[in-house]
Amino acid sequence: MKKETQLIVALDTGSLDEAQRLVRELSACVKYFKIGSQLFTACGPRCVEMVLRENAEVFLDLKFHDIPNTVAQAAVSALRLGVFMFNVHAIGGSVMLSKVIETLNKEVDALKARRPLVLGVTVLTSMDRQQLNSVGVVRSVKNEVIHLAKLCKKNGLDGVVCSGKEINLLRRVIGEDFMLVVPGIRPASVAADDQKRIVTPADAARMGADYIVVGRPVVAAESPLCAAQEILAELHDV
Ligand code: C5P
Repeated sequence: MKKETQLIVALDTGSLDEAQRLVRELSACVKYFKIGSQLFTACGPRCVEMVLRENAEVFLDLKFHDIPNTVAQAAVSALRLGVFMFNVHAIGGSVMLSKVIETLNKEVDALKARRPLVLGVTVLTSMDRQQLNSVGVVRSVKNEVIHLAKLCKKNGLDGVVCSGKEINLLRRVIGEDFMLVVPGIRPASVAADDQKRIVTPADAARMGADYIVVGRPVVAAESPLCAAQEILAELHDV
């Protein structure tokens, strides 16, 4: 059976009021919202609680990267906040990744809670080969993405964040049983902003994205609700 691609709207705003206005407008049709470092640094766990109160789900996009114990404890904090998904930098290495999963699983058992999905961040889309080389990574971007995605899978993570241009490649080398969460999405009618490697919602769905992450095309639209409905219609028509 063909899987459905879900829409996550990025709450890239600097205030709780603005985020709440968006969630209230959208939550009739959008179930998932991404909270990143801008909003979380401005208002902390209150923004997660606000989304949960509106009966929607939170992808906590804080891209944890630290020593294994610290990231594992941050993962436990994310679990206690009630998020459905969060991410860590794959470059933290296998000891960090496996410690996160092991610690999270123990806490899930102890609390009898739902286990959040754990995603790896491979190579940020702002990095090119020259930038990678400058921090000592000698592989190409593509090979580094494959290498880190395999590391995530081997250590029990549920999937990775990847660009639309990497979906086919990752499906080929990693298979179907691994979640691909894809930002850099632009409906054909909308400006690319600063995103370079963009795909449309329909293309991402056709290639097998599990979730797409959309920010400005929805939150900066004249009517965020109409913009979200158009994207959902595009996903459902695939
Ligand atoms: O506004 P736009 O749709 O470009 O927002 C995309 C969202 O996805 C932003 O919150 C951005 O931080 C995030 N993101 C991204 N590219 C990545 C990882 C995350 O655009 N590689």
